[in-house]
Amino acid sequence: MDNPKKLDGKIAIITGGASGIGEATSRLFVQHGARVVIADIQEEKGRLVVESIGSGHCTFIKCDVTDEQQVQSLIQSTVEIYGRVDIMFSNAGIVSTHEYEQDILGFNLDALDNLFAINVRGSVACVKHAAKAMVEFGVKGKIICTGSVTATMGVTKQIDYAMSKHAVLGLVKCASKGLGKYGIRVNCVSPAAVATPMLEKSMKMSVEEIEKMFESFNCLKNGALKAFHVADVVLFLASDDSQFVTGHNLVVDGGFHPPV
Ligand SMILES: NC(=O)c1ccc[n+]([C@@H]2O[C@H](COP(=O)([O-])OP(=O)(O)OC[C@H]3O[C@@H](n4cnc5c(N)ncnc54)[C@H](O)[C@@H]3O)[C@@H](O)[C@H]2O)c1
Repeated sequence: MDNPKKLDGKIAIITGGASGIGEATSRLFVQHGARVVIADIQEEKGRLVVESIGSGHCTFIKCDVTDEQQVQSLIQSTVEIYGRVDIMFSNAGIVSTHEYEQDILGFNLDALDNLFAINVRGSVACVKHAAKAMVEFGVKGKIICTGSVTATMGVTKQIDYAMSKHAVLGLVKCASKGLGKYGIRVNCVSPAAVATPMLEKSMKMSVEEIEKMFESFNCLKNGALKAFHVADVVLFLASDDSQFVTGHNLVVDGGFHPPV
């Protein structure tokens, strides 16, 4: 009989694990036997998530991914606590600041710097330091980054966000080439809109309103995309179910086709 626990005994770090997609993935990974380090800037929320999952299965470490030193010490602490890193889910991210539309004519470059520091620089730091620890300990690890459907699309607004996700996908493709010789797989999960706190805040709409709006853009009529749907795909990429998959962008979008 198949072992229903797909990550038994694995050690995973999930950035942005205090909320939304990262939180859903933390819960799923623990259900599948992993021990999870939730890394986030939201300390109170992160500790509440750990409490509700059970501190025997996960730990919170405060980490701002824009600061390479903090990312390095996140990896070091994980190794000190659990002995190694098997899985890095680099997921922390933000959308464009709501003060700006970020269309090409009104583009605010300072807002771009801030967004790139988290979405791009933060992802590079997480991939780099997790991979270094995997190589050092001879771990054939799995690295997954959160992209977006906008990683491969042109858009008219929030173009800094779309650009940052193109860069994340570029990082995944390049890192998968460099790390393949160590048996480390690197992939991207690219969701369409999920009504997480990130989207609620930026769109100033309720979960129901967001879901209703985006459902109409899906060709798959199967309800709204939820964080747990994305977590299922991350689990696939983190487990041995995807042993020969690397450098891939796995889109989770129900056949998303927006009217732009
Ligand atoms: N929600 C969507 O529609 C959607 C769609 C496609 C991709 N994504 C991506 O999914 C990822 C998760 O977003 P979410 O929707 O779950 O949002 P969320 O706001 O619920 O979660 C993001 C988490 O990242 C954390 N974070 C932000 N900046 C950080 C930093 N500097 N260091 C460490 N942690 C930081 C936040 O505190 C938060 O807990 C992001 O990369 C986002 O771009 C989201």
